[in-house]
Amino acid sequence: MSDYMDKDGFYNKVYQTGVVPVVVLERAEDAVPLGRALVAGGLPAAEVTFRTAAAADCIHTMSQECPGLLVGAGTVLNVEQARRAVDAGATFVVSPGFDLGVVDWCLDHEVDVIPAGVTPTEVTALVNRGLAVTKFFPAAQYGGRGTIDALASVFVGHRFMPTGGVSLANVEEYLGDPAIIACGGTWMVKPKLFADGDFGQVEKATGEAAAVVRRLRG
Ligand code: 3PG
Repeated sequence: MSDYMDKDGFYNKVYQTGVVPVVVLERAEDAVPLGRALVAGGLPAAEVTFRTAAAADCIHTMSQECPGLLVGAGTVLNVEQARRAVDAGATFVVSPGFDLGVVDWCLDHEVDVIPAGVTPTEVTALVNRGLAVTKFFPAAQYGGRGTIDALASVFVGHRFMPTGGVSLANVEEYLGDPAIIACGGTWMVKPKLFADGDFGQVEKATGEAAAVVRRLRG
């Protein structure tokens, strides 16, 4: 990592984790076993999306009962959701696009925030708010690594977190790019993997992704 990134802080944790699992949970009771499977598998982070009514409860129980798990909120579209997420225990906020009200609320409350952008104009707006990392979503549809490299050549030192279409098959290609701090993805936490109440498949898929991160990042 360049000196641009914080050495002991949030960005460094995201870099070390390498793949941030994007979690969509319908049932709050699945949150803790899922979080524990992520920690056991070697990806100790969860972006819990505000796409279900259970999101805030999941964040709350994970942050209380999953030691070592970095718990954040995803799909945060407005300040009210950001406030609910942080009140529940989220330590970071991710959005699929950006709303400057959300960004400013997070900055004012010292909450780490990774909004998304895919165009030079969008990245400019976020860089001008002092942010060092932009989520790149949906990555596959917006040109993947090729577009990220083109943006990175202009926004020198800025980093991207591609999400959307990342999988075990292509995560190594993404993580090999110095402009990419980490990838986001759902493949290791798909509901079908734990439909029977056994989180062993989540841990296994998480372990496979973590092995790629370790191979590339030590
Ligand atoms: C997200 O929730 O950020 C994306 O839908 C994740 O995309 P994926 O399911 O392709 O990983």
